[in-house]
Amino acid sequence: MSAPKSRSVLLIVGGGIAAYKTPELVRLLRKAGLGVRPILTEGGAQFVTPLSLSVLAGTKTRQALFSQEDEAEIDHIALSRAADLIVVAPATANLIAKAANGHADDLATTVLLATDKPVLMAPAMNVRMWSHAAVQRNVALLRADGIQMIGPDDGEMACGEYGPGRMAEPLAIFEAIQARLAQGDGPLAGRHVIVTAGPTQEPLDPVRYLANRSSGKQGYAIAAALAELGAKVTLVSGPVSIEPPPGVTVNRVMTAQQMLDACHAALPADAAVMAAAVCDWRPHAPANQKLKKANASLTLSLIENPDILAQLAAYGPERPGLVVGFAAETNDLAAHAAAKLASKGCDWIVANDVSEPGVMGGDENSICLIDANGIENWPRLSKIEVARRLAQKIERSLNA
Ligand code: C5P
Repeated sequence: MSAPKSRSVLLIVGGGIAAYKTPELVRLLRKAGLGVRPILTEGGAQFVTPLSLSVLAGTKTRQALFSQEDEAEIDHIALSRAADLIVVAPATANLIAKAANGHADDLATTVLLATDKPVLMAPAMNVRMWSHAAVQRNVALLRADGIQMIGPDDGEMACGEYGPGRMAEPLAIFEAIQARLAQGDGPLAGRHVIVTAGPTQEPLDPVRYLANRSSGKQGYAIAAALAELGAKVTLVSGPVSIEPPPGVTVNRVMTAQQMLDACHAALPADAAVMAAAVCDWRPHAPANQKLKKANASLTLSLIENPDILAQLAAYGPERPGLVVGFAAETNDLAAHAAAKLASKGCDWIVANDVSEPGVMGGDENSICLIDANGIENWPRLSKIEVARRLAQKIERSLNA
């Protein structure tokens, strides 16, 4: 996938040691034919020189908000208008905090506040700083504002500690930038697809829950493949431990009811792909306090969860044009899937054979796809390849 050559990125370089990797990102972007206009914060200039960025970007690096000369050339509002995407790499704890709270006390934060362009941030900081409640609160605020985060990665840090906090590698940031810029360019440009993924967790008490072993890998791969074709993707995800794909809006939920609400809130959509492993039941009355081990046995009372797939498939005028369900089966795949197609009222069922080793939680899938025209048996493929083929089939169906 490659982004169109005329696109341009406004690159804000914050004040962290990871800034030494940013020139490599500039090099990758320029090599791909993208325009790069760097903004260097005061802190950033402690780690990388404006000259290195300017030489690699082939244009002047901007540093000051109140520079008569720079503002005369292109003012801070025009700076953001001229870009297709704003990237902050590294995004320090301080820059994240200021952006989350709407501060505008330098050129970088003023541009971030003045822009209506998509923003991608690559956080980088010490592991304790990253896990601090204040940073996590600020990151959640930015995510809720639609700002996309890439990383941080796990690993050894410049300070000698180990854990999450390393800036994503320049190549990964570059790929995320390309994916984001490709949005609105592929054959699914202008289409909105809702994807559900992962398990749901149904609380039993404040510390315990019912759930299942879904990894979310297949749903996340589908969301990524649809975004690569240019779709606007809303990924409604249960709790999983994998990174959100680039260019996808992620709405994290816990319970089936929250997943249903998030799907409703994401409507209207052209298609919905329900790959989540939703818990069929939830505890009838979750306890407000931790259940005590008073007796040797405990009987749980469960009630049925809403069926998100069936509800979306019967949604009246706002029903997505194409509704795809999944079925995890251990035997008679085709027969069970055909029955599910009818009972759920969806358009396609993707049935996967979870009795095969390595499917549940693994990287491969063995599926058959059922629609009104019959059955397609796909060979055993990687989940990424299944996602690509499914995304292409969705594209053909929507654009038919
Ligand atoms: O009924 P079953 O769980 O076998 O159906 C699987 C399909 O239904 C999947 O697409 C899953 O995401 C969806 N589903 C749902 N809400 C539920 C249960 C399943 O959307 N409560």
